[in-house]
Amino acid sequence: MADHILAIDQGTTSSRAIIFDGAQSIVAVGQKEFAQHFPDSGWVEHDPEEIWKTVLWSIEKAMAEASLQPADIAAIGITNQRETVVVWDRESGEPIHNAIVWQDRRTAAYCDALKQRGLEPLFTEKTGLLLDPYFSGTKVNWLLDHVDGARERAAHGNLCFGTIDAFLIWRLTGGARHVTDATNASRTLLFNIEKNDWDAELLEILDVPASMLPEVHDCAADFGVVASGLPLAGTPILGVAGDQQAALIGNACFEPGMMKSTYGTGCFALLNTGSDLVRSKNRLLTTIGYRLDGATTYALEGSIFVAGAGVQWLRDKLGIIRTAAESGRLAAQADPQQHVYFVPAFVGLGAPHWDADARGAVFGLTRNFGAPEMAKAVLDSVCFQTYDLLEANKNDWHSGDADTVLRVDGGMVASDWTMQRLADILAAPVDRPVILETTALGAAWLAGYRAGVWPDAEGFSKSWHLDRRFEPQLDEETRQREIAGWQDAVSRTLTKR
Ligand code: G3P
Repeated sequence: MADHILAIDQGTTSSRAIIFDGAQSIVAVGQKEFAQHFPDSGWVEHDPEEIWKTVLWSIEKAMAEASLQPADIAAIGITNQRETVVVWDRESGEPIHNAIVWQDRRTAAYCDALKQRGLEPLFTEKTGLLLDPYFSGTKVNWLLDHVDGARERAAHGNLCFGTIDAFLIWRLTGGARHVTDATNASRTLLFNIEKNDWDAELLEILDVPASMLPEVHDCAADFGVVASGLPLAGTPILGVAGDQQAALIGNACFEPGMMKSTYGTGCFALLNTGSDLVRSKNRLLTTIGYRLDGATTYALEGSIFVAGAGVQWLRDKLGIIRTAAESGRLAAQADPQQHVYFVPAFVGLGAPHWDADARGAVFGLTRNFGAPEMAKAVLDSVCFQTYDLLEANKNDWHSGDADTVLRVDGGMVASDWTMQRLADILAAPVDRPVILETTALGAAWLAGYRAGVWPDAEGFSKSWHLDRRFEPQLDEETRQREIAGWQDAVSRTLTKR
């Protein structure tokens, strides 16, 4: 019986296809980066056709590398950059505009106007989110208002909206299915997370016709079958989750109180709160962690927009490293006497500040400041931001356990220097798993579980293995001084105090 699973991980900067065997080990990877478009300050777009092509390319590459036949793949799992919006024509399948990416701030003024109408508590009550341009709903509104004829076409039921998962499923099934999963739906500002359904009142406020919306399924469900003429034709798509939720699953955080933090383009820390829909008092998000067999598990989420993107900036814009892997080595050479703080507000600040208009800044420059100090300040900013998220989490939810252990994943966690620094700033242990591809693994598990070829959550949890635990080593006085320096830098960057 086929027990391999192919996971499509459609991220912010690249598309990947990762094949896992029946023992949940990676056997092949296909990966392709695609272009980022910045048409205006704070705007970020992707070309959906390019995303589609890179996904197909990655599937073919991974299949060739694994020397497998389509019949060897039991099912496909999909995980994706969340919130990013695609609107396409129901007949032709053609997008009406570039995808508006989660990082895009173009709807900041619209969000402010909605806040001024006193609507934020209503949105938060129903969706667990805040009125920030990060989420999909206001981006859909923007597309309908700014693309010629779009409102009319939508009113006639001719347009489909989807996050990237829905767009890919539509394409993979040859237009047969317009579906998404509960985790992706929970990021749109249009989905009532308590009722587990699209919310008519919010749709009306944001002026989004219900006919545009995909059907919402559990994360492990029947999402359709790949159409003929495509790679893996006939293979069922049985698992879908937004990438941060997939990482929660892939890191086997199935128990309330378990927490993971993923370091990709941004950093997203999710705490499993079980069946409790915990309302944050600290501007964290309440979100759907996963929905399995009809049961919803909630999570508290802290979202920060720039983590790996800061390292990418060191490489691509400042040119002080050639590969991301060099950043930790360079940071290790920094002069310890310099106290430099970098606030990576390239696209505003996310949790817990939610300041869409803030922009990046560096504080504490001296004549001795150079490339190592800059690299350290960038990596430090990721650790300090994680600290802010964990503090907010602690204040929102008490598990009864005194100590937090954080499971980490994503590209940046390969750096020992960064992980040690993270444990030091958090004053808490940081657990790095053997498999760092937890996002893809989470999507693969959903599909493998649904296909009946992989173990259930309990069995899967047993296959989670620790690579290394980083224990905090920094003295408390230094830690407190550094945290105070960071908080001062952030407060000077905020536009909304
Ligand atoms: O919410 C945005 C998030 O899903 C993007 O994830 O991995 O592309 O940084 P990533």
